[in-house]
Amino acid sequence: MNDTPDLPPGTPVEPAPATPVVPTGVTVVDHPLVQHKLTLMREHDTSTASFRRLLREISLLLAYEVTRTLPMTTTRIQTPLTEMDAPTIEGKKLALISILRAGNGLMDGILDLIPAARVGFVGLYRDPETLQPVQYYFKVPSSLEDRICIVVDPMLATGNSSAAALDLLKKAGARDIRFLCLLAAPEGIQRMQEAHPDVAIVTAAIDSHLDEHGYIVPGLGDAGDRMFGTK
Ligand code: URA
Repeated sequence: MNDTPDLPPGTPVEPAPATPVVPTGVTVVDHPLVQHKLTLMREHDTSTASFRRLLREISLLLAYEVTRTLPMTTTRIQTPLTEMDAPTIEGKKLALISILRAGNGLMDGILDLIPAARVGFVGLYRDPETLQPVQYYFKVPSSLEDRICIVVDPMLATGNSSAAALDLLKKAGARDIRFLCLLAAPEGIQRMQEAHPDVAIVTAAIDSHLDEHGYIVPGLGDAGDRMFGTK
């Protein structure tokens, strides 16, 4: 991994993460397909097209996990042989909330699995002086209080913008929220759990730490830049 031509010689090699201690309330999806695809996404040389495709594929597998505990009911159906009470997902439509802009990369795949979900967007930027998240866009489905909200953002780094997004969603009525990311830093998990202990977190991996610029290490770089090909 460390012979990537663009990395300066002597760049330290981050060991494969040891099995992390997973805090209560956090699920790490350690399925081989998820871990393999995540490794490909981490690779410096993975192209924008491949990164986007992998993110879409991985989002399907993560969606499987984040929806595992959806409440179920039964409905009477007629098979070719008989009637039966068959399992179905109970209740109102889900709300998928993307934290702009990188959240959109996770959301597209999930919508393939749950096409009837309502969709919302939260846009936040960091004020350069106060370093606090500031809202620039907020559009969410109606009746959030009656919906299960799945909030998606690939990188849980400092946790400041994710925690602020959840503040806004709760102000708008959301009560039952799950948070789905691709990579989490311990600092981000701690921040989220302090601010929103009621929100379950699902992630593909918990990495080592944040660097001085707030990037997850070993991480995968800037998720938005890598999925949209910007710099
Ligand atoms: N956002 C990213 O895209 N990458 C990081 O490592 C941290 C925040």
